[in-house]
Amino acid sequence: MRRKIIAGNWKMNNNLKSTVELISEIINKMDNHLENTDVVVCPPFTSLETAVELTKNSKVRVGAQNMFYEKNGAFTGEVSAEMIKNIGCEYVIIGHSERRTIFGESNEWINKKIKKALEEGLKPIFCIGETLEERQNGTMEQVLKTQVFEGLSGVTESQMANIIIAYEPVWAIGTGVTASPEQADEAHKYVRNLVENLYNSSVAQELIIQYGGSMKPENAKELLSKPNIDGGLIGGASLKADSFLSIINASN
Ligand code: 13P
Repeated sequence: MRRKIIAGNWKMNNNLKSTVELISEIINKMDNHLENTDVVVCPPFTSLETAVELTKNSKVRVGAQNMFYEKNGAFTGEVSAEMIKNIGCEYVIIGHSERRTIFGESNEWINKKIKKALEEGLKPIFCIGETLEERQNGTMEQVLKTQVFEGLSGVTESQMANIIIAYEPVWAIGTGVTASPEQADEAHKYVRNLVENLYNSSVAQELIIQYGGSMKPENAKELLSKPNIDGGLIGGASLKADSFLSIINASN
């Protein structure tokens, strides 16, 4: 059975003080008997080191929200995979739709980032998803296929054990509109098939595919009980300990 991963993508929210408060509350209230769920928080860069320190003796792991694919050098404003790994982070979100649309990240860049993250021993949470227009004009499958094939280009079979895919339909992010459990499960199944075509059935069956897009306590249980949904990448609802914890509990 695949493990479930519930990850909080805080986006550009929380300073150092509120990071300490939120993580402390999550740790204090978290059920420590969660057998099959891994919990990850992804604060902004400025809070990562503190988050790693705070979570050291807990079940919570820490991820960054982005990185650059070069090792070091004249890349003003960027942070490397090595820097993220060096402070004790285990995960890094790559290719979030906000990075793709607001910051113009291409599949080619995302692919370079994924390969660099893996090389440095980080686990990429590789985000994909279609826009509403793409879903409505029938190109959703082609879009997901291009994102998956180009994003994973050159990633080896053994490296796939360290990758998580997050299916985040763009129309469901921050909108309050959630994909129905059936819509999400169908998309996840399609993505799993793509990975089977690229690699083989055991890689596809072991791959963790999270759902993201207005996941909240009210809909988490139904989404997480679907056979192809292995967790959640949570935005808004990860910013309050109670709602994040209730999604974590719904995964067990
Ligand atoms: P919301 O949960 O706020 O819709 O955000 C989802 C998301 O983008 C997680 O990466």
